[in-house]
Amino acid sequence: MKVNLKPQAMMYPAPAVIASAYDKEGNVDACTLAFATMCSHRPPAVMIAINSTLKRKTLVSILEREEFCIGFPSVEHAGEADYLGIESGYNENKIDKVNFTTKKGDFVNAPIINEFKVSLECKVMTIKEVGSHTQITGEIVNIQADKDVLNEKNKVNFEALNPLAYDDVTHAYYRMGEKVADAFKIGLKFRE
Ligand SMILES: Cc1cc2nc3c(=O)[nH]c(=O)nc-3n(C[C@H](O)[C@H](O)[C@H](O)COP(=O)(O)O)c2cc1C
Repeated sequence: MKVNLKPQAMMYPAPAVIASAYDKEGNVDACTLAFATMCSHRPPAVMIAINSTLKRKTLVSILEREEFCIGFPSVEHAGEADYLGIESGYNENKIDKVNFTTKKGDFVNAPIINEFKVSLECKVMTIKEVGSHTQITGEIVNIQADKDVLNEKNKVNFEALNPLAYDDVTHAYYRMGEKVADAFKIGLKFRE
């Protein structure tokens, strides 16, 4: 039996990623985002959505600088990722509080959080108001990855990265499970 539920934003699986940008003074802003996904192959691009009340300091900085990074926390970073999403840079130096360190991106003037094993360097392509949120697409102009999460073909190994997943319905963090099958292959059996 199906039950009708009250509409709310939801998507499975949803990530918990960290967007980061420099503010006007060059301080590091960073906040946790569940509203984040890929949106173009050519050019490679991601989109993020941040509540547009401008209470999010990171949003102000991304709009000002038009450059940002996206870091993928591993499961072991759940505590740090949560803190970056419950405290504002208006009140605290969050990066110091969680003992993270940063460096400037190689291709954008935005901070990369060194502790994350994979980070995207992005330049803002479009900005659009969508309901309560400002939706920003960013062209991925570079990706920085730690060698220990790369496979022999220099591709990010999902299991080694062990990215943090998030459920916005129950407000809980999850680890992803094991590989199920090869994409673009397991479905071929239905072609016969
Ligand atoms: C798991 C999690 C996911 C979140 N996802 C979003 C999101 O997608 N968009 C958003 O505007 N805020 C989101 N937040 C809230 C911001 O991260 C939070 O308001 C943060 O304190 C903003 O920090 P800032 O003011 O330093 O930018 C999320 C928080 C958590 C804990």
